[in-house]
Amino acid sequence: MWSADAPAKAILFGEHAVLYGAPAIAIAIDLRASVSLEKSEKWLLNGDAFNPLLNPHLGHLISEFGDLDNPLSISIDSTIPMAAGLGSSAALSVASGMALSASRGHNSVTSIESLARAAHRAEASAQGGRASPTDTSVSTLGGAVIVSSSRIKSLEHRWAIDLESPDGSKHWDVHSLSIPSSLSRIPIVIGFTGISSSTKKMVEMVANNMQTSSFRLAMEKVSEISQKSIDILSTGNPEAIGDAMTRCHSLLQKIGVSSTELDNLIDAVLPFSFGAKLTGAGGGGCIIALSNEPQACAEEINKCGGIPYITSFAEIGVKISS
Ligand code: MEV
Repeated sequence: MWSADAPAKAILFGEHAVLYGAPAIAIAIDLRASVSLEKSEKWLLNGDAFNPLLNPHLGHLISEFGDLDNPLSISIDSTIPMAAGLGSSAALSVASGMALSASRGHNSVTSIESLARAAHRAEASAQGGRASPTDTSVSTLGGAVIVSSSRIKSLEHRWAIDLESPDGSKHWDVHSLSIPSSLSRIPIVIGFTGISSSTKKMVEMVANNMQTSSFRLAMEKVSEISQKSIDILSTGNPEAIGDAMTRCHSLLQKIGVSSTELDNLIDAVLPFSFGAKLTGAGGGGCIIALSNEPQACAEEINKCGGIPYITSFAEIGVKISS
């Protein structure tokens, strides 16, 4: 049996804008997807025949790291809600890539960079060519990751990724950022609206709206907040980060990726938080709040009909499970 697991991610700043030149800042959180593999007569997923059309990410990773002549029975066990903006498919992709690689006789993938690249190719193909390497890099590396359109000298550079997208050629540099413990030990509350959302549809909608100038202006402001937050993050001041998150949410409302349910959850948790915003592609999915009163936030999320998850910052990225 070969197993690997990888964390979910939450985007603090720069969702959508990262596809148009802005930096994205994302952290790994301690919800994880685990993939276990066993030798089998045929390819199975959780006991049923495996269909790559229904599970394109997994199909893609099998094509890159698996051995098609030696079928496996794949079991997925995940605490990450699916299609909820928390990077469940990215976590599944990197965990399955690492487990598949182990099944071929490696203790770990030759390089985690190749794993992150393969997982990003799977995301890009599932999202109609519009996918930044944010989710897949965070699930691979753990900790805090900054993805930007050029290298940031003050940060640890991990790798660069290029992509031909329907909106032209894209280039991203992926960096790791170490977050002061004054910030990393603050509980992270996730509120799931219970409404799933398609990242592919949301990124398509945003791409169509990028033609209008008022929309582009809001996107530029998201980019400014994201840029400034890189310095604020290294100071570890939760009030300043929370304030930037809440301002970022107002802009995400303007670009039309929030929803009544997301806004209601934000209003409910704000009195108990440093700040809150939607996280990920939006349209449904989740909010993220930084709070020293996680129970109070969770109760408010429940009262609004949402599903709370009290989580924390996860330092460890993809790993072989014992
Ligand atoms: C999805 O988690 C984040 C988006 O910015 C898309 C992407 O970066 O690939 C909406």
